[in-house]
Amino acid sequence: MDATTATAPRKQHLIDPEICIRCNTCEETCPVDAITHDDNNYVVDPDKCNFCLDCISPCPTGSIDNWRVVARSYSIEEQFGWEELPAQEDIASGEAEGEADDDEAAKLIAEAHAGSGGKSVAPKSASKPTINLYNRSRPAMATVTGNFRLTDANADNDVRHIILDFGDVSFPVLEGQSIGIIPPGADASGKPHVIRLYSVASSRDGERPKHNNLALTVKREPHGVCSNYLCDLRKGDTVQVTGPFGATFLMPDDPSANIIMICTGTGSAPFRGFTERRRRTMRDAPGRMMIFFGARRPEELPYFGPLQKVPDGLLRKHFAYSRVPGEPKTYVQDRMRATADEVSVFLKHEKTHIYICGLKGMESGVDEALADICRGVGLDWTALRSDLRAQGRYHVETY
Ligand code: A2P
Repeated sequence: MDATTATAPRKQHLIDPEICIRCNTCEETCPVDAITHDDNNYVVDPDKCNFCLDCISPCPTGSIDNWRVVARSYSIEEQFGWEELPAQEDIASGEAEGEADDDEAAKLIAEAHAGSGGKSVAPKSASKPTINLYNRSRPAMATVTGNFRLTDANADNDVRHIILDFGDVSFPVLEGQSIGIIPPGADASGKPHVIRLYSVASSRDGERPKHNNLALTVKREPHGVCSNYLCDLRKGDTVQVTGPFGATFLMPDDPSANIIMICTGTGSAPFRGFTERRRRTMRDAPGRMMIFFGARRPEELPYFGPLQKVPDGLLRKHFAYSRVPGEPKTYVQDRMRATADEVSVFLKHEKTHIYICGLKGMESGVDEALADICRGVGLDWTALRSDLRAQGRYHVETY
């Protein structure tokens, strides 16, 4: 261990490099600039972190919610080199330097490891993901083989389906993982642009089966450096890619698992991957899939056409439109309440997994809807959600 000052045991805030998707949200959120990154990892500076916890809830993966009780803090240089978090040191038995009262140390460790929001856990039956194969100093080069507009020409949003081919470069991904895109050029201060994260929208065997390619669902953001770069790409262009990232927002491989997917806009990307995986490899799976998908209008809903062709037996579809003239504004949580009977059957099932992906704003609305639905059938949502989380059956990725 690289020692800074030796002290009595204290709590240190750390980021799990196996789960972190390098989205930069924590670094942008931290009010005291305690979070920084290199090509490899996002890390917390123990000399700056004041435990304000502002970074915890914006983190889409829960990788930020990690704590160790240490006699000497891990330096940021040490954390840059990690591929996984170190185990908790045995502070109480005196293996580490620094005197500690056994009970006090045990209490501190227990409190620290409870975390603030609960650590993410992958579904038990999920395949083991590969992570962090490529970074800024060693990116994978991909070639654009397709870039199609998914939303109507007159829609407010320009959302695109972009296909990247890796040729003979190995870039293994699982459904639900993300990749990083390095936009070329530098910002106004001359620093290279921040890497942006995008969820993979295809299944593990490629956008086209047995092709070494994958698809992304990208919405053009006003003044967005990376989204405009991606949306303007043409066939044959090359792109620098990092990752893959994410080790918990993964689909269960168990064909008897039920999957409830709740999304808005481009949050649908991972669920396209999930659906393709089931369609290609588990067509007759006993587990059911259900999607709640929110968009302004049908013309704005990515993959609207292809989704209509997915049979109901494979995927139950519930669309929620918020801006259809003459119709009431409907959000995903409203559709969930309207189909409470169906949802509650899933919620009672021990093999049901819930995934939420898309706008941060929907998180609380969906949570309240699930609480109401549970209440209606005598379930306690707070207890159920905590069980689901612990069992790797509840996953949230919002931004
Ligand atoms: P709204 O019409 O109120 O913006 P976008 O098109 O901006 O990507 O948004 C996708 C969908 O998510 C839209 O229908 C949008 O509705 C909806 N939405 C916005 N805020 C929330 C929220 N808090 N909960 C659920 N859905 C939301």
